[in-house]
Amino acid sequence: MQYDIKQFDELDSTNAQAARENYAHGTIISAAHQSSGRGQRGNRWSSAKGENLMFSLVVEPTHVAVCEQFTLSEMASLASCEALAEMGVECKIKWPNDLYVDGKKIGGILIEHTSQGEFLTRTIVGIGINVNQTTFDPSIPNPTSLKLLAIQSSPTTLLDLFCNKFSSIYDCKELHMQYMKNIWRADDFYPYRDARSGALFQAQITNVDPFTGELTLTTDAGQQKKYWFKEVEVVL
Ligand code: BTN
Repeated sequence: MQYDIKQFDELDSTNAQAARENYAHGTIISAAHQSSGRGQRGNRWSSAKGENLMFSLVVEPTHVAVCEQFTLSEMASLASCEALAEMGVECKIKWPNDLYVDGKKIGGILIEHTSQGEFLTRTIVGIGINVNQTTFDPSIPNPTSLKLLAIQSSPTTLLDLFCNKFSSIYDCKELHMQYMKNIWRADDFYPYRDARSGALFQAQITNVDPFTGELTLTTDAGQQKKYWFKEVEVVL
């Protein structure tokens, strides 16, 4: 993939900027600071000025059907994990696409799609990864950064690594298998809480649907339970 990196000192949100203009496939909008960084489910994404990587990649995945849109989530989270692995970090994907190291969140991904008919037309892949920030707002649960992991780097180095990884993943047939290999806590049984009923149970992640992202948990009694994002939470 050919990238065109547009670097801004300050934006409201790189995702918002990417949505405002008609940027071509492969454009990356990166900012040193966001005044209204967006997180998942309407949350804010706050990040100290100039310390972290914040960018949005514009792609035109016109070969991907709307019902298969989770593919883009897999690509983005896997490319981020692999970029961090190049720096010696063992990053895991907290389903569906949070980036975790040693049980702490190092980065997050916000993906926004546009579609026409059955197929996607444009996808904005927004990624924030903590690089040099060492103190965080107490309201942020469980944050970490490369610096806190004793790794010296810069947002631009990490962005370069991400671009290389994303290019090779974009057409990769093994994507889903690689995504599953990198899922956090898929190795054993862990405690989960059903968000609707509040019920606690032990289960193991046994599948993530490659097209919809639906999670399958198998309980220690062998029962399969299927969940959408935020319908279940892992008990830490
Ligand atoms: C999350 O809630 O975990 C997702 C956070 C995504 C943050 C990134 S930073 C770059 C891009 N621009 C935004 O406004 N949000 C995403």
